Amino acid sequence: MSEADMAADTGLLKPALKAIAEDIDQSFDLLLPLPGDPRDRLVEAMRYATIGGGKRVRPLLVCATASLFGVSREAAIRVGTAIEAIHVYSLIHDDLPCMDNDALRHGKPTVHLAFDDAAAVLAGDALHDFAFEILSDPATSGDPFTRIELIRTLATASGMNGMCGGQMMDIVAETSSFDLPTVTRLQQLKTGALLSASVEMGAILGKVPPEGRTHLRGYARDIGLAFQIADDLLDAEGDEAAAGKALRKDEAQGKETFLSLLGPERAREQARMLIDQAIELLASYGPEAELLRELARFIVERNH
Ligand code: IPE
Ligand code: IPE
Ligand code: MG
Ligand code: MG
Ligand code: MG
Repeated sequence: MSEADMAADTGLLKPALKAIAEDIDQSFDLLLPLPGDPRDRLVEAMRYATIGGGKRVRPLLVCATASLFGVSREAAIRVGTAIEAIHVYSLIHDDLPCMDNDALRHGKPTVHLAFDDAAAVLAGDALHDFAFEILSDPATSGDPFTRIELIRTLATASGMNGMCGGQMMDIVAETSSFDLPTVTRLQQLKTGALLSASVEMGAILGKVPPEGRTHLRGYARDIGLAFQIADDLLDAEGDEAAAGKALRKDEAQGKETFLSLLGPERAREQARMLIDQAIELLASYGPEAELLRELARFIVERNH
Protein backbone atom coordinates (compact mmCIF):
# COMPACT_ATOMS: atom_id res chain seq x y z
CA MET A 1 0.00 0.00 0.00
CA SER A 2 1.37 3.39 -0.91
CA GLU A 3 2.02 6.17 1.57
CA ALA A 4 -0.86 8.13 0.02
CA ASP A 5 -3.31 5.26 0.52
CA MET A 6 -2.20 4.73 4.11
CA ALA A 7 -2.84 8.33 5.06
CA ALA A 8 -6.40 8.26 6.39
CA ASP A 9 -9.10 10.19 4.59
CA THR A 10 -10.36 12.34 7.44
CA GLY A 11 -12.97 14.09 5.30
CA LEU A 12 -11.42 17.52 5.70
CA LEU A 13 -11.14 18.31 2.03
CA LYS A 14 -14.75 18.67 0.92
CA PRO A 15 -15.77 21.23 3.54
CA ALA A 16 -12.44 23.02 3.06
CA LEU A 17 -13.03 23.35 -0.71
CA LYS A 18 -16.54 24.66 -0.07
CA ALA A 19 -15.37 27.18 2.53
CA ILE A 20 -12.49 28.47 0.41
CA ALA A 21 -14.79 28.88 -2.62
CA GLU A 22 -17.17 31.02 -0.53
CA ASP A 23 -14.41 33.06 1.09
CA ILE A 24 -12.60 33.78 -2.17
CA ASP A 25 -15.82 34.73 -3.96
CA GLN A 26 -16.66 37.08 -1.11
CA SER A 27 -13.18 38.56 -1.12
CA PHE A 28 -13.26 39.37 -4.85
CA ASP A 29 -16.78 40.73 -4.48
CA LEU A 30 -15.74 43.11 -1.69
CA LEU A 31 -12.42 44.17 -3.24
CA LEU A 32 -13.73 44.72 -6.77
CA PRO A 33 -16.69 47.12 -6.51
CA LEU A 34 -17.87 48.72 -9.76
CA PRO A 35 -16.50 52.27 -9.91
CA GLY A 36 -19.70 53.61 -11.53
CA ASP A 37 -17.88 55.28 -14.42
CA PRO A 38 -16.62 54.19 -17.86
CA ARG A 39 -14.20 51.75 -16.20
CA ASP A 40 -17.19 49.60 -15.26
CA ARG A 41 -16.64 47.39 -18.30
CA LEU A 42 -13.11 46.56 -17.10
CA VAL A 43 -14.22 45.74 -13.56
CA GLU A 44 -17.22 43.78 -14.85
CA ALA A 45 -14.80 41.61 -16.86
CA MET A 46 -12.59 41.16 -13.76
CA ARG A 47 -15.61 40.16 -11.67
CA TYR A 48 -16.91 37.85 -14.40
CA ALA A 49 -13.61 35.98 -14.44
CA THR A 50 -12.97 35.84 -10.71
CA ILE A 51 -16.32 35.33 -8.96
CA GLY A 52 -17.78 31.82 -9.04
CA GLY A 53 -14.58 30.54 -10.60
CA GLY A 54 -12.51 27.39 -10.35
CA LYS A 55 -11.43 25.00 -7.65
CA ARG A 56 -9.42 27.59 -5.69
CA VAL A 57 -6.59 25.11 -5.13
CA ARG A 58 -3.98 27.85 -4.76
CA PRO A 59 -5.84 29.82 -2.04
CA LEU A 60 -6.55 26.54 -0.24
CA LEU A 61 -2.82 25.73 -0.30
CA VAL A 62 -2.08 29.15 1.21
CA CYS A 63 -4.68 28.67 3.95
CA ALA A 64 -3.76 25.04 4.71
CA THR A 65 -0.06 25.93 4.99
CA ALA A 66 -0.66 29.15 6.95
CA SER A 67 -2.86 27.29 9.43
CA LEU A 68 0.12 25.06 10.36
CA PHE A 69 1.69 28.17 11.84
CA GLY A 70 -1.32 29.80 13.50
CA VAL A 71 -1.85 32.56 10.88
CA SER A 72 -5.27 34.23 10.90
CA ARG A 73 -7.72 33.05 8.25
CA GLU A 74 -8.27 36.68 7.22
CA ALA A 75 -4.61 37.24 6.31
CA ALA A 76 -4.39 33.89 4.51
CA ILE A 77 -7.54 34.70 2.48
CA ARG A 78 -6.04 38.02 1.39
CA VAL A 79 -2.88 36.26 0.18
CA GLY A 80 -5.04 33.54 -1.42
CA THR A 81 -7.04 36.20 -3.23
CA ALA A 82 -3.82 37.74 -4.56
CA ILE A 83 -2.50 34.46 -5.94
CA GLU A 84 -5.90 33.54 -7.36
CA ALA A 85 -5.96 36.94 -9.13
CA ILE A 86 -2.67 36.02 -10.83
CA HIS A 87 -3.99 32.56 -11.69
CA VAL A 88 -7.21 33.95 -13.19
CA TYR A 89 -5.26 36.54 -15.18
CA SER A 90 -3.10 33.71 -16.55
CA LEU A 91 -6.24 31.81 -17.60
CA ILE A 92 -7.86 34.86 -19.27
CA HIS A 93 -4.72 35.40 -21.34
CA ASP A 94 -4.20 31.64 -21.91
CA ASP A 95 -7.68 31.45 -23.48
CA LEU A 96 -7.13 34.39 -25.89
CA PRO A 97 -7.16 33.69 -29.66
CA CYS A 98 -3.42 34.42 -29.81
CA MET A 99 -2.76 31.66 -27.26
CA ASP A 100 -5.03 28.61 -26.81
CA ASN A 101 -8.08 30.23 -28.45
CA ASP A 102 -10.60 28.67 -26.09
CA ALA A 103 -14.32 29.42 -25.87
CA LEU A 104 -15.20 27.89 -22.51
CA ARG A 105 -13.78 28.40 -19.01
CA HIS A 106 -15.44 27.44 -15.72
CA GLY A 107 -18.46 26.33 -17.71
CA LYS A 108 -19.12 29.73 -19.29
CA PRO A 109 -17.85 31.70 -22.30
CA THR A 110 -14.27 32.91 -21.96
CA VAL A 111 -13.74 36.59 -21.14
CA HIS A 112 -12.76 37.62 -24.67
CA LEU A 113 -16.03 36.14 -25.97
CA ALA A 114 -18.26 37.45 -23.18
CA PHE A 115 -16.60 40.90 -23.56
CA ASP A 116 -13.93 41.36 -26.26
CA ASP A 117 -10.17 40.89 -26.73
CA ALA A 118 -9.30 44.35 -25.41
CA ALA A 119 -11.37 43.89 -22.25
CA ALA A 120 -9.79 40.44 -21.74
CA VAL A 121 -6.24 41.76 -22.09
CA LEU A 122 -6.96 44.66 -19.75
CA ALA A 123 -8.84 42.54 -17.19
CA GLY A 124 -5.82 40.19 -17.08
CA ASP A 125 -3.41 43.10 -16.72
CA ALA A 126 -5.50 44.74 -13.99
CA LEU A 127 -5.86 41.46 -12.04
CA HIS A 128 -2.09 41.12 -12.13
CA ASP A 129 -1.70 44.59 -10.62
CA PHE A 130 -4.55 43.99 -8.17
CA ALA A 131 -2.62 41.03 -6.70
CA PHE A 132 0.28 43.27 -5.72
CA GLU A 133 -2.03 45.97 -4.37
CA ILE A 134 -3.42 43.37 -1.98
CA LEU A 135 0.00 42.06 -0.91
CA SER A 136 1.47 45.52 -0.35
CA ASP A 137 -1.49 46.60 1.81
CA PRO A 138 -0.75 46.61 5.57
CA ALA A 139 -4.09 44.81 6.05
CA THR A 140 -2.33 41.70 4.65
CA SER A 141 0.52 41.86 7.15
CA GLY A 142 1.58 44.60 9.55
CA ASP A 143 5.21 43.60 8.98
CA PRO A 144 6.79 45.35 5.95
CA PHE A 145 9.44 42.61 5.64
CA THR A 146 6.71 40.00 5.35
CA ARG A 147 4.91 42.10 2.73
CA ILE A 148 8.08 42.49 0.65
CA GLU A 149 8.79 38.77 0.83
CA LEU A 150 5.24 37.96 -0.26
CA ILE A 151 5.50 40.41 -3.17
CA ARG A 152 8.85 39.09 -4.30
CA THR A 153 7.72 35.48 -4.09
CA LEU A 154 4.58 36.07 -6.16
CA ALA A 155 6.37 38.30 -8.68
CA THR A 156 9.08 35.68 -9.24
CA ALA A 157 6.54 32.87 -9.60
CA SER A 158 4.50 34.88 -12.12
CA GLY A 159 7.15 36.28 -14.45
CA MET A 160 9.87 35.03 -16.77
CA ASN A 161 11.22 32.65 -14.12
CA GLY A 162 7.75 31.31 -13.43
CA MET A 163 4.35 31.13 -15.11
CA CYS A 164 5.06 33.46 -18.07
CA GLY A 165 8.31 31.66 -18.83
CA GLY A 166 6.45 28.33 -18.75
CA GLN A 167 3.69 29.64 -21.01
CA MET A 168 6.30 30.70 -23.56
CA MET A 169 7.94 27.27 -23.42
CA ASP A 170 4.47 25.73 -23.83
CA ILE A 171 3.96 27.67 -27.05
CA VAL A 172 7.42 26.77 -28.32
CA ALA A 173 6.57 23.13 -27.49
CA GLU A 174 3.97 23.17 -30.29
CA THR A 175 6.69 23.39 -32.89
CA SER A 176 9.71 21.77 -31.19
CA SER A 177 10.27 18.36 -29.75
CA PHE A 178 11.26 18.60 -26.11
CA ASP A 179 12.88 15.84 -24.06
CA LEU A 180 11.62 14.82 -20.61
CA PRO A 181 13.84 17.19 -18.58
CA THR A 182 12.71 20.12 -20.76
CA VAL A 183 9.03 19.21 -20.45
CA THR A 184 9.55 18.86 -16.69
CA ARG A 185 11.04 22.35 -16.60
CA LEU A 186 8.17 23.69 -18.73
CA GLN A 187 5.56 22.24 -16.36
CA GLN A 188 7.42 23.39 -13.27
CA LEU A 189 7.35 26.95 -14.56
CA LYS A 190 3.92 27.01 -16.19
CA THR A 191 1.99 25.40 -13.33
CA GLY A 192 4.39 24.44 -10.55
CA ALA A 193 5.66 27.94 -9.83
CA LEU A 194 2.30 29.37 -8.71
CA LEU A 195 1.41 26.25 -6.72
CA SER A 196 4.81 26.39 -5.01
CA ALA A 197 4.38 30.09 -4.32
CA SER A 198 1.04 29.33 -2.63
CA VAL A 199 2.72 27.04 -0.11
CA GLU A 200 5.71 29.36 0.27
CA MET A 201 3.47 32.37 0.95
CA GLY A 202 1.57 30.42 3.62
CA ALA A 203 4.92 29.78 5.31
CA ILE A 204 6.00 33.42 4.87
CA LEU A 205 2.82 34.60 6.59
CA GLY A 206 3.69 32.15 9.35
CA LYS A 207 7.16 33.74 9.62
CA VAL A 208 8.86 30.42 8.96
CA PRO A 209 12.51 31.16 8.00
CA PRO A 210 13.67 29.82 4.59
CA GLU A 211 15.66 26.98 6.21
CA GLY A 212 12.46 25.76 7.88
CA ARG A 213 10.60 25.51 4.56
CA THR A 214 12.59 22.71 2.91
CA HIS A 215 10.02 19.93 3.34
CA LEU A 216 7.14 22.18 2.39
CA ARG A 217 9.03 23.24 -0.74
CA GLY A 218 9.56 19.61 -1.69
CA TYR A 219 5.86 18.89 -1.12
CA ALA A 220 4.90 21.87 -3.31
CA ARG A 221 7.29 20.90 -6.11
CA ASP A 222 5.91 17.37 -6.26
CA ILE A 223 2.23 18.32 -6.18
CA GLY A 224 2.93 21.02 -8.80
CA LEU A 225 4.26 18.49 -11.28
CA ALA A 226 1.52 16.01 -10.48
CA PHE A 227 -1.07 18.75 -10.95
CA GLN A 228 -0.01 19.42 -14.54
CA ILE A 229 0.18 15.69 -15.34
CA ALA A 230 -3.41 15.43 -14.05
CA ASP A 231 -4.40 18.43 -16.23
CA ASP A 232 -2.84 16.77 -19.27
CA LEU A 233 -4.59 13.44 -18.49
CA LEU A 234 -7.83 15.35 -18.06
CA ASP A 235 -7.28 16.97 -21.46
CA ALA A 236 -6.87 13.55 -23.06
CA GLU A 237 -9.42 11.50 -21.14
CA GLY A 238 -11.70 13.81 -19.14
CA ASP A 239 -15.31 14.88 -19.47
CA GLU A 240 -15.81 18.41 -20.83
CA ALA A 241 -18.96 19.11 -18.82
CA ALA A 242 -17.20 18.24 -15.54
CA ALA A 243 -14.04 20.11 -16.52
CA GLY A 244 -15.96 23.21 -17.65
CA LYS A 245 -13.44 23.79 -20.45
CA ALA A 246 -12.71 22.43 -23.92
CA LEU A 247 -10.61 19.25 -23.83
CA ARG A 248 -8.70 17.18 -26.42
CA LYS A 249 -6.68 20.24 -27.34
CA ASP A 250 -3.09 19.34 -26.43
CA GLU A 251 -2.66 16.59 -29.00
CA ALA A 252 -4.48 18.60 -31.69
CA GLN A 253 -2.08 21.49 -31.05
CA GLY A 254 0.88 19.13 -31.14
CA LYS A 255 1.87 20.00 -27.56
CA GLU A 256 4.70 18.05 -26.03
CA THR A 257 3.51 17.02 -22.55
CA PHE A 258 4.26 14.26 -20.03
CA LEU A 259 1.47 12.39 -21.70
CA SER A 260 2.87 12.67 -25.22
CA LEU A 261 6.28 11.55 -23.95
CA LEU A 262 5.30 8.82 -21.47
CA GLY A 263 1.86 7.65 -22.57
CA PRO A 264 -1.13 7.59 -20.17
CA GLU A 265 -0.10 4.64 -18.00
CA ARG A 266 3.36 5.87 -17.16
CA ALA A 267 2.15 9.45 -16.79
CA ARG A 268 -0.51 8.34 -14.29
CA GLU A 269 2.08 6.24 -12.46
CA GLN A 270 4.44 9.20 -12.33
CA ALA A 271 1.71 11.45 -10.90
CA ARG A 272 0.87 8.88 -8.19
CA MET A 273 4.54 8.48 -7.31
CA LEU A 274 4.92 12.25 -6.98
CA ILE A 275 1.91 12.41 -4.65
CA ASP A 276 3.29 9.59 -2.47
CA GLN A 277 6.56 11.45 -2.29
CA ALA A 278 4.82 14.75 -1.45
CA ILE A 279 2.92 13.09 1.41
CA GLU A 280 6.11 11.49 2.72
CA LEU A 281 7.70 14.93 2.84
CA LEU A 282 5.03 15.98 5.36
CA ALA A 283 6.06 13.19 7.75
CA SER A 284 7.46 15.65 10.28
CA TYR A 285 3.99 17.23 10.64
CA GLY A 286 1.15 15.64 12.57
CA PRO A 287 -2.60 15.75 12.05
CA GLU A 288 -2.42 19.51 11.49
CA ALA A 289 -1.09 18.75 7.98
CA GLU A 290 -3.92 16.35 7.10
CA LEU A 291 -5.61 18.87 4.80
CA LEU A 292 -2.37 19.26 2.82
CA ARG A 293 -2.21 15.45 2.49
CA GLU A 294 -5.82 15.21 1.30
CA LEU A 295 -5.27 18.08 -1.10
CA ALA A 296 -2.30 16.23 -2.60
CA ARG A 297 -4.45 13.18 -3.28
CA PHE A 298 -7.27 15.31 -4.71
CA ILE A 299 -4.83 16.79 -7.23
CA VAL A 300 -4.44 13.48 -9.04
CA GLU A 301 -7.92 12.11 -8.43
CA ARG A 302 -9.93 15.15 -9.56
CA ASN A 303 -12.17 15.13 -12.62
CA HIS A 304 -12.16 18.92 -13.12
C1 IPE B 1 -5.79 25.11 -14.82
O1 IPE B 1 -5.60 25.33 -13.46
C2 IPE B 1 -4.60 25.58 -15.58
C3 IPE B 1 -3.34 24.99 -15.16
C4 IPE B 1 -2.43 25.69 -14.60
C5 IPE B 1 -3.13 23.57 -15.38
P1 IPE B 1 -6.73 24.90 -12.42
O2 IPE B 1 -7.16 23.50 -12.73
O3 IPE B 1 -6.28 25.20 -11.04
O4 IPE B 1 -7.91 25.88 -12.81
P2 IPE B 1 -9.25 26.26 -12.08
O5 IPE B 1 -9.06 27.66 -11.61
O6 IPE B 1 -9.53 25.32 -10.96
O7 IPE B 1 -10.29 26.18 -13.15
C1 IPE C 1 -2.41 26.91 -18.69
O1 IPE C 1 -2.18 25.60 -19.09
C2 IPE C 1 -1.49 27.22 -17.63
C3 IPE C 1 -1.50 28.65 -17.30
C4 IPE C 1 -0.45 29.19 -16.83
C5 IPE C 1 -2.68 29.47 -17.52
P1 IPE C 1 -3.27 24.95 -20.03
O2 IPE C 1 -3.43 25.74 -21.28
O3 IPE C 1 -3.00 23.49 -20.14
O4 IPE C 1 -4.55 25.17 -19.12
P2 IPE C 1 -6.03 24.83 -19.55
O5 IPE C 1 -6.03 23.37 -19.92
O6 IPE C 1 -6.38 25.77 -20.64
O7 IPE C 1 -6.82 25.10 -18.28
MG1 MG D 1 -2.17 26.89 -22.52
MG1 MG E 1 -5.27 26.50 -22.17
MG1 MG F 1 -4.51 21.95 -20.13
